[in-house]
Amino acid sequence: MTSKEIFAEFYPIIVDENIILRQVKPEQDCEKYFEIYSDADAMKYYLGYGKPPANLEQVKKIIQNQINAFEKYREYNWTIADRNTDEVLGRILLSDFQNNNTAANIGYFLDRKYWNKGIMTACTEAVVKFGFEQLKLERIFTSVEPNNIASQRVLEKNGFTKEGHLRHCFPLNNGLHDCVIYGKLYTD
Ligand SMILES: CC(C)(COP(=O)(O)OP(=O)(O)OC[C@H]1O[C@@H](n2cnc3c(N)ncnc32)[C@H](O)[C@@H]1OP(=O)(O)O)[C@@H](O)C(=O)NCCC(=O)NCCS
Repeated sequence: MTSKEIFAEFYPIIVDENIILRQVKPEQDCEKYFEIYSDADAMKYYLGYGKPPANLEQVKKIIQNQINAFEKYREYNWTIADRNTDEVLGRILLSDFQNNNTAANIGYFLDRKYWNKGIMTACTEAVVKFGFEQLKLERIFTSVEPNNIASQRVLEKNGFTKEGHLRHCFPLNNGLHDCVIYGKLYTD
């Protein structure tokens, strides 16, 4: 698919009876995102995190960047929300579209209050299905810090294959870490 086709329209995804993946709502969501981004220990393995935001204005910029990235055909960002309360639980995205839009990177994070309930496993399953079936991707991939066991479990439970271990290639705010590459093909 062309970038224009992929990013023609934002599609929300219903994951199950409790969870929806929807477009970010800047005014409504910013305080909850601020809370999540302020948990530096939870976010320490999230690529590109850096440090906690100093104020709400910085979070609003992050949210605006997400919206711009969709409009500029670069990233497909979903806010993970509770279907009943519409509260933000986290974020999941497809980015780094490459090889004529046949491959994309998956990334995600969740408010630590909701960890270990299977939520990201279910959200990943839904986004992978969307990526393969609607966006016609051939390959979905990601890089994980080796100590990030929870993220590796999410990928393994979704049938991703561990494809390699790269040394000192994962830039976090305390320097370069190793990373484990995971991939899943449409045909897997
Ligand atoms: C990674 C993350 C998204 C996982 O979300 P989640 O909804 O808690 O994931 P799930 O509940 O679907 O699955 C987590 C699995 O990891 C397991 N797990 C979690 N911590 C673990 C640990 N320290 N040791 C062993 N297993 C662990 C859980 O038991 C579960 O596996 P199981 O179903 O086989 O029991 C969440 O921890 C997070 O947001 N982390 C911070 C951001 C981040 O690291 N993002 C990914 C960057 S690559």
